[in-house]
Formats: sequence, C-alpha cells, structure tokens
Amino acid sequence: MKTSVYRKEHFNAAHRLYNKNWDDEKNERVFGKCNNPNYHGHNYELIVKLTGEVHPETGYVFDMKKLSDLIRERITGRFDHKNLNLDTEEFQDLNPTAENIARVIYDLLRSEIDRALDLKITLYETERNYVEYPA
Ligand code: NI
Repeated sequence: MKTSVYRKEHFNAAHRLYNKNWDDEKNERVFGKCNNPNYHGHNYELIVKLTGEVHPETGYVFDMKKLSDLIRERITGRFDHKNLNLDTEEFQDLNPTAENIARVIYDLLRSEIDRALDLKITLYETERNYVEYPA
C-alpha cells in the first residue's frame, strides 16, 4: 500500500512579476499589484509531499529528518528573505510566479529523492492562492 508523507515549511521572499517584452502599461494590466517596480513580499507556505511504499525495515516512506534537512539546504536556505528577481539565479530570466516557483522547487528536490517516490509540491502564495506541481 502506498502512503504519502508531507513536510510543511515556510519562507518569506520578495518578487516582481513582469514580462520584459511588454510595455509598462501591459505589465501593469496583466500583473497588477505584483508588478510593483519596487517589489513586494509574500509569506510562502511550502508543502512537500512524497508518496511511496512503506519500507519494511524502517516503517518509513522517507526519513522526515532527512526531508527537513533537504528542504532547508535546497530550498529555504536559497530563497528565504531573498528578492527572487535580484538575488537568485533561478529567476534571472524566469517570472517568479507561484507556478514557476513551484516548478523550480520541484526540480531542485527531484534529483535528491529516490525515483521510486512520487514528489508533489504545493505552494501557497497567500492563504487563498496556491499551486500544485505536478498537477
Ligand atoms: Ni506578488
């Protein structure tokens, strides 16, 4: 029987959404407040879900201490209290929408976790807006 385990983490980061191929008027119209040229912050809630078989010897799907360390090393250590547009390599040329942040987080973790486990990222940008990757 497959079982899912979840680790919830938190980070704060600033961003600005814009498309450099559009003029200011169109950026403002499409991205609204998230287009603020002086940036703004979000309190991101991250949920990492792993699904797989329970290991018969440990009784674990995945060691949660290891998962916690991995998320800190790979994700929160990289993005917490950063300006995503200015301070990170990942968003130099990628619009830091919740959709794109979730995909970047997935890619940063996927290579570190056994392929036998399914990985899903849920990222809350606000209490009411969140994304799931992969869908
Ligand atoms: Ni925003």
